[in-house]
Amino acid sequence: MQFNIPLNQWTKNKSLITWIEEQIALCQPDQVHLCDGSLKEYDYLMQGMVESGMAIALNEKKRPHSHLFWSDPDDTARVEESTFICSRKKEDAGPTNNWEDPEKMKKKLQELFSGCMKGRTLYVIPFSMGPIGSEIAHIGVQITDSPYVVCNMRIMTRMGKKVLDALQNETFIPCMHSVGVPLQKGEKDKKWPCNTENRYIVHFPEERSIYSYGSGYGGNALLGKKCFALRIASAMARDEMWLAEHMLIMGITNPEGKKKYFAAAFPSACGKTNLAMLTPTLPGWKVECVGDDIAWMKFSKDGKLHAINPEFGFFGVAPGTSYKTNPNAMKSIEKNSIFTNVALTEDQDVWWEGMTEEAPEKLTDWHGNPWTKESDVKAAHPNSRFTAPITQCPIVDPALEDPAGVPISAIIFGGRRSSVVPLVSQSMNWEHGVFYGASVSSEMTAAAKGEIGKLRHDPFAMLPFCGYNMGDYFDHWLQIGKKTEAKNLPKIFYVNWFNKDEEGNFIWPGFGDNIRVLKWMFERCEGLEHAIESPIGYVPTNDAIDITDLGLSQDDMQELLSVDIASWKKEAKDLEKYFEMFEDHFPKGLQEQLENLKERLNK
Ligand code: GTP
Ligand code: SPV
Ligand code: MN
Repeated sequence: MQFNIPLNQWTKNKSLITWIEEQIALCQPDQVHLCDGSLKEYDYLMQGMVESGMAIALNEKKRPHSHLFWSDPDDTARVEESTFICSRKKEDAGPTNNWEDPEKMKKKLQELFSGCMKGRTLYVIPFSMGPIGSEIAHIGVQITDSPYVVCNMRIMTRMGKKVLDALQNETFIPCMHSVGVPLQKGEKDKKWPCNTENRYIVHFPEERSIYSYGSGYGGNALLGKKCFALRIASAMARDEMWLAEHMLIMGITNPEGKKKYFAAAFPSACGKTNLAMLTPTLPGWKVECVGDDIAWMKFSKDGKLHAINPEFGFFGVAPGTSYKTNPNAMKSIEKNSIFTNVALTEDQDVWWEGMTEEAPEKLTDWHGNPWTKESDVKAAHPNSRFTAPITQCPIVDPALEDPAGVPISAIIFGGRRSSVVPLVSQSMNWEHGVFYGASVSSEMTAAAKGEIGKLRHDPFAMLPFCGYNMGDYFDHWLQIGKKTEAKNLPKIFYVNWFNKDEEGNFIWPGFGDNIRVLKWMFERCEGLEHAIESPIGYVPTNDAIDITDLGLSQDDMQELLSVDIASWKKEAKDLEKYFEMFEDHFPKGLQEQLENLKERLNK
């Protein structure tokens, strides 16, 4: 077996060495590459992928040091039907997760992984989720046979010498990944190897390990992200009284210079990245970005929840991203970025729907086919994504690397709802806020395989990401609220940017104008009134939201902020039905919230 560096020189961590040796014996790769996370290593791997035809090097003048990948057309998003939580008891995975007996699943995985890296290189990636040395952070080690994954992980996580040093005497979460396509001697590799017949994204929450097979895409393959930082970490957080959430973290400074941090959970492709780096349209307000997808929060000595972003990069939705809607994202991806499944321009740059008002005359679409404006297919896949270093974000928050994390003043839930749910409301207290989280539902997007536009319940935006029984997870949130004084708990809000008018157009302009809603929340955190009680919580008074220069009529605002009792009665009924599936795991505290809501609606 050929190693790029002797294993015992690379690490002295005995359990790590043993684990790597076992996996090598199982997967039988041709070579082993122990990663150091250097730029030189990244460039070497990228060069190899350009030469093999897997990657396209973009125009060095327009998009320096950046590359484009086109995946297999059947490997373009997370695969929830192939995602498993293998706790010993089925009940502990709960009714929202796929479950398989751990012993049975281990056997299946042994079969799948046996010899799966023949003809390939096995890469070992040491990475930290969170600032190295932070009490909130954790280390993982991913084994993969995909150089694409290695390069993405180098952007998405803290990966390099410092992690290797920290690993000498630290425990780690083992993350096994293979695209599941062994190569015969002399066999030519596919451009995007994957095994769509045999896809398994498997989590063992009790032993805290991850096995992913058959996919090379996003959350299926970059195991630090959804697999570790959400599914495994949520189980760790339950045991250790903290929170691992599908949330952005943003800093907001008002014109007087007062700063607060908010965290927000929206389902996949429902606006986290955009909110996290919004450019305010109200003068004097400033937004800074700590993270755009995942937050780990722990109680600090001050009794408040403090959050870190476990990630170090953005894996963001490309379509709809433009200098108009999200200039900070556009600036973050000007260089050193990876693009997956977007279109290629004639001058070797990237394009996607919504990037510019007019599409270029000619493109090569994400299938590699010629594309013109007359084409009736999308040039970029709806779930095409960019991978970019968070440090390139012009408004990255100075506390990004603060091991103590940032104190969270407000938590926002939201979803994509074309009606019923108003622009914004505030919970009456923590328990009611937990009820908000539990009642998130959203129209489905292209971020996962499934029926786009279909309304589905997605509690806490964690439906695909909770590593244990969702009913117990609800209770964990209630318990968190009892751990500190009420005044230290974040205020909880619910937003919906996606109300539509009769013609199907969004009523609320969204994006930079969302600062107007954030301003109201900021003021509510400061104790300002500006709110009235409705059956679903506090809503802004008529003039509480600054709509100067927006061109929205009072009627529009009325429509956006109204709480329609009949629709909400239906909503409550539907929720009641949904919650039934959690049986005796559904916490009493939330049952009470439901009863209270029904009562208020009947008044
Ligand atoms: P994941 O990375 O999948 O977790 O998604 P996300 O929650 O970060 O969503 P993102 O910010 O990437 O937005 C997804 C899509 O929603 C993009 O096409 C955006 O253009 C669109 N979007 C985001 N914010 C708004 C908004 O305020 N209003 C409207 N109308 N669309 C928005
Ligand atoms: C999501 O689907 O919520 C994402 C993209 O952030 S992925 O990394 O593929 O999960
Ligand atoms: Mn996400």
